[in-house]
Amino acid sequence: MNAMTPSPEPGKVRVAAIGDLHVTETSARAYREIFAQVSAEADVLLLCGDLTNYGKPSEAQVLAEDLHACSVPVIAVLGNHDYESGCVDDVKEILTQAGARILDGGEAVEVMDVGFGGCMGAMGGFGRGMLSSFGEPSVKTFVQACIDETMKLETSLRMLRTDRSVAVLHYAPIIGTLEGEPLEIFPFLGNSRLAETIDRFDNVRAVVHGHAHRGVHKGETPKGVPVFNVARPVLARSGERPFALFDV
Ligand SMILES: [Fe+2]
Ligand SMILES: [Fe+2]
Repeated sequence: MNAMTPSPEPGKVRVAAIGDLHVTETSARAYREIFAQVSAEADVLLLCGDLTNYGKPSEAQVLAEDLHACSVPVIAVLGNHDYESGCVDDVKEILTQAGARILDGGEAVEVMDVGFGGCMGAMGGFGRGMLSSFGEPSVKTFVQACIDETMKLETSLRMLRTDRSVAVLHYAPIIGTLEGEPLEIFPFLGNSRLAETIDRFDNVRAVVHGHAHRGVHKGETPKGVPVFNVARPVLARSGERPFALFDV
């Protein structure tokens, strides 16, 4: 533990989280120090998508090199940028080889009796403004893809038998952490189905997401579960450490 960081309460797990790393081919070593600091201060690291800038295997390789500096378990979800080059399987493979557990198909991970479930999530809008499956086939296909992501989240959280769980996403489950983003793009930043799913599970203690670079750090689901936007630019504006840190 860093001398500046109080120890977690007995029995609690200290979670570090950061999203939107947007690693490029030229950002070698950009995260090495941060991952070393995480290893000194936390029990587990969550990476909330947009790990690479264009989803290129070469970018994933740069991040993989830096991940060797992380000695605590790394649990990650992908972001929209990680899909951009059509090489998402290669990106996943490279990061998995570097030790990251990628949540992308209903998987879940337990670390020190705390469960971690999640997936990328999807856009689609919020509340009464959420896009529904109506009209032209292209809209129905899109909405179904959003619902499929929600089902992945549900499957993942359902796998966990832990008393305490954390949901890991890239897209936002609520509008509370989007404050500061232009209203016009809220529907592209997340969707309410994610929060509805999370709120059906009594053991979820916290939610982390990224994607909303101009949003705010803290919000909560309708049921009151804390939601942390850990997009790197959001954390940078806080002026504190370059990753979020909380106890579960
Ligand atoms: Fe991003
Ligand atoms: Fe994103």
